[in-house]
Amino acid sequence: MAKDSLTITDNRTGKSYELPIQNGAIRTADLRQIRTDEEDFGLMGYDPAFMNTASCASRITYIDGEKGILRYRGYPIEELAESATYLETAYLVLYGELPTKKQLEGWTHEVIFHTILHENVKKFIDGFHHDAHPMGMLVSTVAALSTFYPEAKHIFDAESRKKQTHRLIGKMPTLAAFAYRHSRGLPYAYPDNDLSYTGNFLNMLFKMTEVTYKPNPILERAVDVLFILHADHEQNCGTNAMRSVGSSHVDPYSAVAAAAAALYGPLHGGANEEVLRMLMQIGSKGNIPEFIKKVKAGEGRLMGFGHRVYKNYDPRAKIIKRIADQVFEVTGRNPLLDIAIELERIALEDDYFIKRKLYPNVDFYSGIIYQAMGFPMEMFPVLFAIPRTSGWVAQWEEMLLDSEQKIARPRQLYLGPAPRRYVPLDKR
Ligand code: CMC
Repeated sequence: MAKDSLTITDNRTGKSYELPIQNGAIRTADLRQIRTDEEDFGLMGYDPAFMNTASCASRITYIDGEKGILRYRGYPIEELAESATYLETAYLVLYGELPTKKQLEGWTHEVIFHTILHENVKKFIDGFHHDAHPMGMLVSTVAALSTFYPEAKHIFDAESRKKQTHRLIGKMPTLAAFAYRHSRGLPYAYPDNDLSYTGNFLNMLFKMTEVTYKPNPILERAVDVLFILHADHEQNCGTNAMRSVGSSHVDPYSAVAAAAAALYGPLHGGANEEVLRMLMQIGSKGNIPEFIKKVKAGEGRLMGFGHRVYKNYDPRAKIIKRIADQVFEVTGRNPLLDIAIELERIALEDDYFIKRKLYPNVDFYSGIIYQAMGFPMEMFPVLFAIPRTSGWVAQWEEMLLDSEQKIARPRQLYLGPAPRRYVPLDKR
């Protein structure tokens, strides 16, 4: 008769142990009873980079990497991208259900109400060098918000958490837009609360001398859909940073800064910037075979390809490819698209990529769209961080309220020197 348990025999001692299996996992803490003698610390799991270790139980995002499925709170990403708005999706990710009309109005009001920054924040941004990377500015200024809202440290006060959630989601686009305006030498454009969340973001980025900025509805919707696609993605590097740093019970601004710093890396949210650099370096379709040869020889990676979880086409990449056509009707076609499409075609027919199940990920096409819309490359990771804030905060709150969670503190296998005596400086 089948049993939900795992029997292990320790060949060092000949003893057998039965470990329960729950939700398709054993608890690695159960391995600690497996010991050679009383002195033995007990067996551990060794799993660098969490390749096969669940660090939490979550009810937010579901991914089936083999089938290319992504769902937020049970809703397929394709349906949300088709019919929802980003703020509606952020509410779903945060609170578990789609909002009613009244809830959505209240939520939208709260977020929009918190888009304005304290004037002193402008002074930090002014202090950055003219060519400072906007992601560096965003990481620093979001951390600095904790000094403006010291009550944010009351993380077990539900009202306080709610307030910081409104502030974080409301202010991230403003911080991002101010960082962008600073790097362009442009005056800061203040939020316009008559516009939608993404419409207002475009206003703060691109408003020039006009009295009222009117976002192009196709571009506004395209950014909104891109924001939906980036709202959450379960335990990726940035989210893991959010949970891990948040587990020390620091305020959410500091934890979001840590998560955003993780996102900044070229293997994570920095990848779409790298995709564009790669496409520009390839330069023309004729150079693709030579480039692929180099990737296969281990000289660099095909950026925008491969994923720790997806071993199939990233469902977000499919949606983005569709949006690209709508955006290009407004902006004109980005010539890099032809190189990207050809690169994808060649890679997907190549044994190296087939064998390793490397498919385009979310970043492969997003940068091409952002560039066509007039965003400089340095803004790409920032455009990822804004919508991901809802996912970070949802995951942070879930971690805080999970009675099984504690301060994150992995074990290690110590392989360094055995004990030895200090050698005075003149004897070394
Ligand atoms: N180009 C060429 N080879 C690759 C690539 C790639 N993009 N990605 C993985 N491989 C190879 C890798 O060399 C390895 O080959 P081998 O088995 O011969 O050593 C094999 O595929 C498995 O790769 P891995 O490094 O063990 O896979 P991982 O799960 O650790 O890495 C990844 C996942 C996303 C970091 C990696 O695929 C990568 O570096 N991709 C390019 C960067 C990128 O597009 N990142 C954005 C990810 S999606 C946005 C996000 O969620 O942040």
